[in-house]
Amino acid sequence: MNKQIKVFAPATVANVACGFDVLGFALNEPGDEVILQTNDSGEVTISKITGDEGKLPLNADKNTAGVVVKQYLAHIGSKQGVDIQLHKRMPLGSGLGSSAASAVASLFAVNELLGAPLSRMELLPFAMEGERIACGAAHADNVAPALLGGFVLVRSYDPLDVINIPFPQDLVATVIHPQIEIRTEDARSILKKSILLKDAIQQWGNIAGLIAGLIQSDHSLIKRSLEDVIIEPVRSLLIPNFDKVKKAALDNGAFGCSISGSGPSIFALSNSLAVAGQIASAMRNELKAIDIECDVYISPINKVGPRVIQSS
Ligand code: HSE
Repeated sequence: MNKQIKVFAPATVANVACGFDVLGFALNEPGDEVILQTNDSGEVTISKITGDEGKLPLNADKNTAGVVVKQYLAHIGSKQGVDIQLHKRMPLGSGLGSSAASAVASLFAVNELLGAPLSRMELLPFAMEGERIACGAAHADNVAPALLGGFVLVRSYDPLDVINIPFPQDLVATVIHPQIEIRTEDARSILKKSILLKDAIQQWGNIAGLIAGLIQSDHSLIKRSLEDVIIEPVRSLLIPNFDKVKKAALDNGAFGCSISGSGPSIFALSNSLAVAGQIASAMRNELKAIDIECDVYISPINKVGPRVIQSS
């Protein structure tokens, strides 16, 4: 008998200032929804995509969601036919892990449909391959938190070593998405290939400080550590009024503020929904001043990653 499942997977904030390619956290919203249905065709198909303004391919060999499901099925030796419906509930090219959310939702859904033969950790390499297709680099700092929930540290890529980091329960993220598009591939290609030792020292001091601050729920240490001296100075040039938006966030109670993933979204962390709301208004005003519309998301840290919405 054929089965159907509907799954949500969350948006994610990668890098978290000082943790380029090694740290990310999941949001409660936005995120993507997929509906997967088994059939007897032996094929993986994508019958419907909504919310993408026609930008994503329906060809399962060219779409991240289709490719990861095919690779997963080949890996477990299954000839199961599956149809995918993908409902994008978040902007593309936003720096919020859009491709990661689609890949994770699809992988989690197909794994559940087949009785969950693989653990979440075992699904991770397939989701990373999705990132390689989407932007040319199999970075894990969106897919790992999307799949595992919470804050996730990628200690090593080879061998893959991924660790959930405890975090203060009162942490709230404000994310503002200026409505311009930056392709991750482009935002990666402008980065310098080598960095100064003095900058590396500052950056690894900060990432270690941020991890310690999260584990110890030390707001002051988190605040001191949310600083990126390597990536932000380069990529912020692509985001109109970035410096003013960041200052507005810090002036209104944010622990820190930086680019979400490869941008253009900007995130700030604070410790209450009320403060997060004030930060959002202040950040939005700086973009309004230059006639840039934006989406705003305020969310505690998502602890669960993907979730089943419905199954039959
Ligand atoms: N770590 C990746 C980057 C995240 O900054 O390029 C992309 O969302």
